[in-house]
Amino acid sequence: MGLSEHFLWGGATAANQCEGGYREGGRGIANIDLLPAGRDRFAVASGRLKKLEPDDSGFYPAHQAIDFYHHYKEDIALFAEMGFRVFRMSVSWTRIFPNGDEEQPNEEGLLFYEDIFQECRKYGIEPLVTISHFDCPIGLVKKCGGWKSREMISFYERLARTLFTRFKDLVTYWLTFNEINMIYHLPFCAAGLCFEEGENEKQVIAEAAHYELVASALATKIGHEINPQNKIGCMLAAGPYYPESCRPEDYWQAVCDDRDGYSLIDVQVRGDYPPYLLKKYEREGIKIPFEEGDRELLRNHTVDFVSFSYYNSRVSSADAAGKDTTEGNVFPTLTNPYLKVSGWGWPVDPVGLRITLNVLYDRYQKPLFIVENGFGAKDVPDEDGEIQDDYRIDYLRSHIREMIKAVEEDGVELWGYTSWGCIDLISNGTGEMEKRYGFIYVDRDNQGQGSFRRQKKKSFYWYKRVIETNGEEL
Ligand code: BG6
Repeated sequence: MGLSEHFLWGGATAANQCEGGYREGGRGIANIDLLPAGRDRFAVASGRLKKLEPDDSGFYPAHQAIDFYHHYKEDIALFAEMGFRVFRMSVSWTRIFPNGDEEQPNEEGLLFYEDIFQECRKYGIEPLVTISHFDCPIGLVKKCGGWKSREMISFYERLARTLFTRFKDLVTYWLTFNEINMIYHLPFCAAGLCFEEGENEKQVIAEAAHYELVASALATKIGHEINPQNKIGCMLAAGPYYPESCRPEDYWQAVCDDRDGYSLIDVQVRGDYPPYLLKKYEREGIKIPFEEGDRELLRNHTVDFVSFSYYNSRVSSADAAGKDTTEGNVFPTLTNPYLKVSGWGWPVDPVGLRITLNVLYDRYQKPLFIVENGFGAKDVPDEDGEIQDDYRIDYLRSHIREMIKAVEEDGVELWGYTSWGCIDLISNGTGEMEKRYGFIYVDRDNQGQGSFRRQKKKSFYWYKRVIETNGEEL
């Protein structure tokens, strides 16, 4: 009993939140480079405040982030010391195609990633690569409005083909898009979408989502052709909705809210739009821009596994107006009186992770991969300069315990677990550096001050032991 000896323990990052080096190595500007820290961040990320050039008026944390660009060897060595078997990361599209529409890739960008993958391999760490983690070249936003345009499919195809070809012998685990359902909540951040006055936002998002789905299926096809060993997955921002009460209307609302999350990965896993989404679009007067060949691509190139992020559960009510809410990953939810919340107001719900694993496995019967889970907290060094992050250990321990139950007691097939922000990085939601998730502390603050020095936290030693004992010792 217990987890398989091949279980992939590790950690997760994304280029946009850790690399920095934003104008180095021939890199072009991406949407994430234009997300300021502070008040305007959400307005820009959601496409309501248009920003296509960086200016001096704001602080853009992605420009330097934690400078993984210059520290990756040291960081990967620390991951290896913890015993990582997998490292989830993403590539920066504009390091490889600076404007997005070049015919030939930027060799310097490819060399950077090649070196990272080789470094991982040196330690026996399997890279798990997200092709697009909240990443869209600004060149393509200017040229065609980002994923508003069907043209994006061929630019993405070029990126994917380049990666699959060049890294054929180094990478076999891939994700096409991070949290594809976040296109509904963060349209600029997720897909480079900005809205004009009077534009039908729902229609624009549905079109962009369709293009991403077609691009994802195409990448899956190409990835399998180039290397039949490739394992290509979709990625969902997960977390179950609980009905506020046992009133049937509340339960129905929870079913509908859950489906809003699943709808796009339903297409990636099953190869077709689910009837409930088609009916919803029909009611809203939304048209899916199908073209010849789209249906076959979607049907014939479904994903090999389902990955997801899990931070918190949510609550649904048939009449939510005026009720108490709390924060959650990207958007708020009704308050759940049974749960405590983090310093950022996110509910802490380990059982919700077991529920998510079971529901996803029942729904798809595909292998699962937890590619994000973690606790954002402010870490304050004690008088000896050490970080005693017991709160983070508690969060991770309770979630891993439920994860193991899902595997051992419920029979869910789970390939691995990568905790989010295994090294401190900048928060996507707020742009803060001081919302930390890592086992490794990075000396950098919200104002961009600090030495970038890395330091092991208490949780570093704890996680090392968890991996060593394959989850027996929590
Ligand atoms: C996920 C994203 O939604 O949540 C990550 O894939 C993000 O990019 C993570 O960082 C945690 O959210 P936040 O806002 O605390 O950074």
